[in-house]
Amino acid sequence: MVSTSSKPLNVDLSRIRSDIQALQPQLVEWRRKLHQRPELGFQEHLTAEFVAQKLQEWGIEHYKGIAKTGIVAVIRGHREEKTVLAIRADIDALPIQEENDVPYRSQHNGVMHACGHDGHTAIALGTAYYLSQHPGTFSGTVKIIFQPAEEGPGGAKPMIEAGVLKNPDVDAIIGLHLWNNLPLGTVGVRSGALMAAVETFRCTILGKGGHGAMPHQTVDSIVVAAQIVNALQTIVARNVDPIESAVVTVGELHAGTALNVIADTARLSGTVRYFNPKLEGYFVQRIEQIIAGICQSHGATYELNYSHLYPPVINNPEMAEFVRSQAVRVIETPLGIVPECQTMGGEDMSFFLQEVPGCYFFLGSANLSRNLAYPHHHPRFDFDETALGMGVEIFVRCVENFG
Ligand code: NI
Repeated sequence: MVSTSSKPLNVDLSRIRSDIQALQPQLVEWRRKLHQRPELGFQEHLTAEFVAQKLQEWGIEHYKGIAKTGIVAVIRGHREEKTVLAIRADIDALPIQEENDVPYRSQHNGVMHACGHDGHTAIALGTAYYLSQHPGTFSGTVKIIFQPAEEGPGGAKPMIEAGVLKNPDVDAIIGLHLWNNLPLGTVGVRSGALMAAVETFRCTILGKGGHGAMPHQTVDSIVVAAQIVNALQTIVARNVDPIESAVVTVGELHAGTALNVIADTARLSGTVRYFNPKLEGYFVQRIEQIIAGICQSHGATYELNYSHLYPPVINNPEMAEFVRSQAVRVIETPLGIVPECQTMGGEDMSFFLQEVPGCYFFLGSANLSRNLAYPHHHPRFDFDETALGMGVEIFVRCVENFG
């Protein structure tokens, strides 16, 4: 597996830094091109074409059309060692109308790179380019995975099913997310849970409608739904061990057509988040118990759809320490490493981390002084592009010191 500790750096630090600084204008150019042409999950045709064209130009072995729009690049180092390190970047955008007034704003109506995946793609491309230009600086093989549809319905799982972690078999995987919750010049990296599991539920309460003045002739689906919304909050407050972190959010509640009509159906939907994989399966069972019990006590029935979307993102301790030890050379101050960076947001990087040891980390990208600090998924999201070069440098240092 991974030996991470006492190995001396086999590289000249200033050489990496100056080469990557020279690459910075291209990183910005690629990122802005991608930003102008954002595409939704599994529709990243222009994006994939752009990536493939660059890889082709640089003579890098690559495979297209994996899980529809995914691409894998394979770069071999100077010694045919057996270690295989994978680097994962997600490439998709979101259904958001961009509100930034910048020359590189989205040209696709209603679609925007509002999570920074344009930056992830540029960083992965920069890493591929650098490694292909410096094969003498690392041994083993590097696989760079350009993954579609992270924002939904999820491209990691179909890529794994298509065999991206096999032939040659991947020993470990790393990936990053540009992160506006952290300032530029910091890296959020930790062992164990980084991001939460994502589950969703949709429920229809089936009551019996009628006249608003004659409730005794009805089963009021709104009253039933209201009790369910309240009772669902007791799962985290009263059932889950208080040492654990979890969220049950009802984000939608729809019912009724007129103020004097009792609604015969109500629809509610929401999301569940948690870190501990042992809680998998717990929420679906408890949510159904609560819905069934309340419906039964009122003479209503229900239909429930529950989905387990993404498991929690769990970092392997040795790989987290390895990434930290490389990132600290880029950030250059231990204060820039932020281990308390957990979030209840989710990511399908988790599927890769279930298969092989790895580490997903946050690269601080906010810069308040330049008004680049809007949260992810905001129509005015943008980030400090200085982070692009830092991302490449962290990946390159990981590659050169892995194994
Ligand atoms: Ni994202």
